[in-house]
Amino acid sequence: MPLTHDDVRELNRQDPLASFKSRFALPAGTIYLDGNSLGAQPAAASEAVGALMAQWRGSLIQGWNQGWFVAPERLGDRLAPLLGAGPGEVLVTDTITHNIFKLLGYITEGQGITEGQERARPVILSEGGNFPTDGYIAQGFCRFGGFEHRVVPEGEALDAYLDDRVAAAVLSHVHYRTGRLRDMAAITRQVHAGGAEIIWDLAHSAGALPVDLAACSVRYAVGCTYKYLNGGPGAPAFLYVRRDCQDRGWQPLSGWLGHASPFAFAADYTPAPGISRFRTGTHSPLAYAALEASLALWQEVDLAQLRSKSQRLIELFRESLGDCLGKHGISDVTPTEQERGSQVGLVARAHGYAIVQALIARGVIGDYREPGLMRFGFAPLYLSYEDVWQAARHLREVLAAGEHLAPRFHQRGAVT
Ligand SMILES: Cc1ncc(COP(=O)(O)O)c(C=O)c1O
Repeated sequence: MPLTHDDVRELNRQDPLASFKSRFALPAGTIYLDGNSLGAQPAAASEAVGALMAQWRGSLIQGWNQGWFVAPERLGDRLAPLLGAGPGEVLVTDTITHNIFKLLGYITEGQGITEGQERARPVILSEGGNFPTDGYIAQGFCRFGGFEHRVVPEGEALDAYLDDRVAAAVLSHVHYRTGRLRDMAAITRQVHAGGAEIIWDLAHSAGALPVDLAACSVRYAVGCTYKYLNGGPGAPAFLYVRRDCQDRGWQPLSGWLGHASPFAFAADYTPAPGISRFRTGTHSPLAYAALEASLALWQEVDLAQLRSKSQRLIELFRESLGDCLGKHGISDVTPTEQERGSQVGLVARAHGYAIVQALIARGVIGDYREPGLMRFGFAPLYLSYEDVWQAARHLREVLAAGEHLAPRFHQRGAVT
């Protein structure tokens, strides 16, 4: 039996995470189901950025000695507990794209071709259909580093693609389109047993579900902070290197801030000890200020409660849609409970884009990815059960009235 409005209000009352919603500055009348693309703004972020501006005004260059310089390490330590990492194992820096490149180079350093010899492990593995940047940067790395790029077809097991020629694999923990969750512990074990390394992309799992890098024996990971972690548009990404793997050599973007003594201005590069060697150039304290405000809030979140609410929100949304999807030729491609992140995927080949636009016109914001996929992200900190129930009602009404058939919903913007 579908839940009634009263049932849903009761779920809100019993929700242990309910109070977090008031700590986000969401526009009135908006149900935001796109936190898997860009998270909502924590109410404290604006003040934090304002305070940084004031500090810049008052302190000028001295600001760098008042916390700006060490922000990549400080915020890394704040983020670490959400990832099952320890202090000094996470650095907040650059973008996922840069960080994958740095880690590929770091992992394979020393595997260069010496005269007349073949590289022992010349293959970099990545997943077809993954978020494009992961494949593109693997291709770029292979092209300039003399490696071969091998692609595992989307969703397939690695078995047939892992052999003793593979140096490293890049894989997403949660797939950006399908929302499918990979078994991090089992795959990490498998790759390590084959003598290779794996870099996990946590873009769709950090802040979406509990991640335990240590328990899964992960050595290398990357992720972003602008999705579920609500760090703001273009917020810096992060990189994880397990402590016992931190001092093996250089990373290839050997910039001055990853140097052991950046202000010695030495002629030659010497990597900084520990995680700091993964720095490159000058970071933006402004961007870190917004993220720091968000991470302060995250320290209070119980990740088991977050996961449980995410699953219940997803189920509520799907149940509340009733039989309307089938009637309109839409298929629900959301993976099962154990195999998913925190998003719902609905495929409407003909009108997916227009349906999402019609929903946005009603204040329900999701997004669209080719071909035909409507993505709805469920960020449990600022979504209530009532929001999700209402979002399903809006979708039912859009479809029943054929609102999406209006020509204005078929015009494409640059970002979908
Ligand atoms: C899985 C995944 N990796 C990487 C990125 C983007 O990486 P970058 O921080 O380099 O823009 C995204 C963006 O949505 C993503 O979903």
